[in-house]
Amino acid sequence: MYFKESKGFKKDFLWGSASAAYQVEGAYDADGKGMSNWDEFVRIPGKTFKATTGDKAVDHYHRFKEDVALMAQLGLKTYRFSIAWSRIYPDGDGKVNQAGIEFYNNLINECLKYSIVPMVTVYHWDMPQALEEKYNGWENRQIVDDFVRYATTLFRNYGDRVKHWIIMNEQNIFTRFGWLDGMHPPGKIDQQQLFYQVNHHAFMAHARCVVSLKEMYPDALVGSSFAYSPSYGLDCQPQNAMAKYDYDDLNNFFWMDVYGYGRYPKAAIRYLASQGIEIKMENGDEAIMKKAASLTDFMGVNYYQSTVVEFNDIDGVGTTHEMNTTGKKGTSTVQGVPGLYKNPKNEFLPTTDWDWTIDPMGLRYCCREITSRYDLPIVISENGLGAFDKLEDEKVKDPYRVAYLQAHLQELKKAVDDGCDVLAYCTWSFTDLLSWLNGYQKRYGFIYVDRQEDENSGTLNRYKKDSFYWYQEVIRTNGENL
Ligand code: BG6
Repeated sequence: MYFKESKGFKKDFLWGSASAAYQVEGAYDADGKGMSNWDEFVRIPGKTFKATTGDKAVDHYHRFKEDVALMAQLGLKTYRFSIAWSRIYPDGDGKVNQAGIEFYNNLINECLKYSIVPMVTVYHWDMPQALEEKYNGWENRQIVDDFVRYATTLFRNYGDRVKHWIIMNEQNIFTRFGWLDGMHPPGKIDQQQLFYQVNHHAFMAHARCVVSLKEMYPDALVGSSFAYSPSYGLDCQPQNAMAKYDYDDLNNFFWMDVYGYGRYPKAAIRYLASQGIEIKMENGDEAIMKKAASLTDFMGVNYYQSTVVEFNDIDGVGTTHEMNTTGKKGTSTVQGVPGLYKNPKNEFLPTTDWDWTIDPMGLRYCCREITSRYDLPIVISENGLGAFDKLEDEKVKDPYRVAYLQAHLQELKKAVDDGCDVLAYCTWSFTDLLSWLNGYQKRYGFIYVDRQEDENSGTLNRYKKDSFYWYQEVIRTNGENL
């Protein structure tokens, strides 16, 4: 739509920034924390860029006060962070570790001291390794009970001060990389049946948490964050338009329909059955999924890029289970599902050094689709640019990051004018942090952290990048002059 004037962001719009426990905290074995699946996985040779780990990460565990003070200087209205399950339950299902509870109590209180709204992610991919060893983690239905116990422990301890909860971070990504592409724990490849079953367990964990939270705190705001890459059909050939539909049903609506409607998309379920894949459900699952959907307050969206969809012949390309983790531009290849679709490069758009398409308008497209399809408020829980930054004379000039964020915010503002109810926008990320597979050289933050891939290099000192000052002004003016 075209509007002569913009109404702008609402007065109480939550300008934020985000992180995840494993990517920032470090202190991987401190104060009673148990090992997580990621603590183990990164030790397998060849799994991460230059064997980087989050053992020390950027030491947020010990420097959170400094980091939150910097957030306050920036003017952040919200800080989205995740909780490490293995700090709270070192064995996954045994006794609570009080030191873990205290760490997050302190972090939450530190945010509140500066009137920064804590937005808590319950699960950002790090699961207690003990549960992996005990019953293969997400593959076993038992995890639903253990997850809900962990989550309700968080609600009980922090629900008096935390209103905004994100249950799952990018369930579509951790399950795809974990059971189809072998790039995340547990490192399995092409396990289609397991992939869908694991997803069902994660959906049930999400749904039961939503219901429990609302019973305990009816005023809480809850949702899960989906890694949404909206799709564009290659052209107006009907088979490409239909391939786009197939892509959406299997890659986007499969998750968002469960969060938003409490059910799976019909065509996807039919297709899976034809492939011999059947999701095992228990009595009552459908009712809980529906109930959770009716109680869900927002759709969380992590937006980085859009996708192009083209019909893929039955003898066409498959997937190579590889991605560009080096930052050498142009090293990605076209992948797809034979008989359904493939995802060629978008010739109209530039890419990052890691071959991620840069498409600001895609963010508006996401918001429009969610608004039309689910009529839910939206939390943009991640959006940002991974780049090689250089520290020179204690300064970082990152005009490319400013250009990226500015263009995305301009589109987000248009989405708001379109009538989308956008509650928050969190950049990824506040400080530089560990990019799971890409090491420390792929930087996202407003704050440069002096550390390289080598565990022993760098002072871990923090430096404000130019983008820090730019975002400060955006927040001060509530996005008026983008
Ligand atoms: C999202 C994740 O997938 O994208 C983050 O929620 C992640 O944890 C971010 O870091 C950027 O991805 P990457 O692979 O560049 O670190």
